[in-house]
Amino acid sequence: EYPTMGTGDFRNSALIIRNHDESECCDLRYVSHEIRQGKYGLPGLPAVYAKDEEAQSLEIILEDSASKVQVHLLYGVLEEEDIITRSVQIMNLGTGKIVVEKAASACLDFVNGEYDLVTFYGRHAMERNFQRTAITHASHMIGSRRGTSSHQYNPAVIVAGQDTTEENGNCYGMVFVYSGNFMCEAERDQYEQTRVLMGLHCDLFHYPLEPQETFTVPETILCFSAEGFGGLSVKYHRCIREHICRGRYRDNIRPVLVNSWEAAYFQFNGETILQLARDAAELGIDMVVMDDGWFGKREDDNSGLGDWQVNESKLGCSLGELIRKVNDTGVKFGIWIEPEMVSEDSNLYREHPDWAMQIPGRKSVRGRNQLVLDFSREEVRKQIFEEICGVLDQGNIEYIKWDMNRSMVDIFSSTNFQGKVAYDFVLGVYDFLEKLMEKYPNILIEGCSGGGGRFDAGMMYYTPQIWCSDNTDALDRLRIQYGTSFFYPMSVIGAHVSAVPNHQTGRSISLHTRGVVAMTGAFGYELSLDKLSVEEKAQIKEQIRQYKEYEDLICRGEYYRLSNPFRDSCAAWTHVSKGKDRVLVHVVMLENHGNMTVSYVRLRGLLPDVVYEEVKSRQRYYGSALMEAGIPMPVELGEYHAYQLEFRITK
Ligand code: GLA
Repeated sequence: EYPTMGTGDFRNSALIIRNHDESECCDLRYVSHEIRQGKYGLPGLPAVYAKDEEAQSLEIILEDSASKVQVHLLYGVLEEEDIITRSVQIMNLGTGKIVVEKAASACLDFVNGEYDLVTFYGRHAMERNFQRTAITHASHMIGSRRGTSSHQYNPAVIVAGQDTTEENGNCYGMVFVYSGNFMCEAERDQYEQTRVLMGLHCDLFHYPLEPQETFTVPETILCFSAEGFGGLSVKYHRCIREHICRGRYRDNIRPVLVNSWEAAYFQFNGETILQLARDAAELGIDMVVMDDGWFGKREDDNSGLGDWQVNESKLGCSLGELIRKVNDTGVKFGIWIEPEMVSEDSNLYREHPDWAMQIPGRKSVRGRNQLVLDFSREEVRKQIFEEICGVLDQGNIEYIKWDMNRSMVDIFSSTNFQGKVAYDFVLGVYDFLEKLMEKYPNILIEGCSGGGGRFDAGMMYYTPQIWCSDNTDALDRLRIQYGTSFFYPMSVIGAHVSAVPNHQTGRSISLHTRGVVAMTGAFGYELSLDKLSVEEKAQIKEQIRQYKEYEDLICRGEYYRLSNPFRDSCAAWTHVSKGKDRVLVHVVMLENHGNMTVSYVRLRGLLPDVVYEEVKSRQRYYGSALMEAGIPMPVELGEYHAYQLEFRITK
């Protein structure tokens, strides 16, 4: 269950302890165990939560008798959800200091069989691409050394039988509930056994524990499906939606918002935002979000971060006045912040250069021209918290977009032990977010990190919505949202309709298709509304009406992938209501050729023996026919046609 270094198991280990005498050995033996009703919680860390009657916890205590290092293996069982969580607490009960050099929270040992590892790699603006590789006689490793969970690999993997498909076969999921450096290792050994570990990255990590101190390894959520990847996703969606996401917006309808970023970038004033609000009101958009550029000296990304004072001369009025005017149009107001960062050209940096993480004597590595604040230090967090509260208290702010726009390189603290900084930084971010949620329980916080660079279950505990990607191109989004859907529920996926030609790819796709693609998550717009034609405005009004009608189905229904957009001639997915009586199908055609063959989309998750009616055409089909034969998609001239079909059980 928890293999350690120095005991004769030569495979990848879950735990490496450097003892007081510098030896690296920890021979854990059973001491006791306890089963309790309810789900354990973790100090300072996000974790699956449940009502006492919904969960049980098992705690197994192990000890290394020589060093008196105790390890508590924590298991949470949510039987109804078919979920097992694992976490680990490491306690130094000896008399000298030890160092935790490596710590995983979950280990799966498969004694036989051949397996594939499914991972989700990516880059800025192209996150979470599906990759499936055989676990061979080698150690396969993915992870992040970037300080955040990162665009590069998502901290969630699937171990699948080699014949497992979307609909059939066994697969095991491992989702790390953490937003910093992580590592997943998969290895097939010389006896054909497979081991998969999920935990903290061992690079940039040497966590000292003085006698009586405890270290907690972030949680991994485990799940198994015998119904292929589709079955696994349904269970993870429910678990994350109902047992990770918290706050008022966990279950409430999210506001349809328009964000100023792709509409105006840094070039706006109060009137720009107000005009966006007036146009939003006319179209039925609920909220306007003022993105980057409203504070300090911030006309581009070279300066201003850390100075959380409203730039009233840019806005042409106080923030309070702007919010009042926006609210007077009937539209809510949201704001962008990036609390973990500092620009060298800022008053904050001039006052506290040591608050930025930089290694003395070395040239700092900048990302987007900015440095990272040392959020492992409480005083740093405290001041930024107070300044941000000072802004939030200026008016009726109902939404925050919390951004984090660079990877961490110079991990260094002038007050902390260096091997702790990367982990303590993440706990600092969590502490800040927890305090923010406590003080402003009605504010919806949307996470963001250069788009989807911190799209993980850890952040979802604080931010029930995360901007999925800075890439708003509908075609690319189909792939990004496909990869994202393997673990994360639709309610978390921030998805907006943006202008064409698209700012990231230059591609022009119809407004209808852009709307259908964005309707896979927390829906919104990211474009300048006053440039829209009368017809486009009418179309947008209709999109919003439709989205509101389908919101519950999209955000809280069961989601199934119906095709693979990396491979198939169309991208298709569906949202099925709990009672399976309402079904929404979305299809985007990806290919068009001369004398085009018909694409059939086979539905999933329906009741086979009842008759469903497609709402517009009033055509009727048995559930089994829709699932086995599928619906033929029309062959039309042109590219990327999108279809939205609703089916209901006929009475
Ligand atoms: C990041 C975000 C964008 C936008 C900019 C602002 O790139 O992902 O959506 O907020 O920052 O600087």
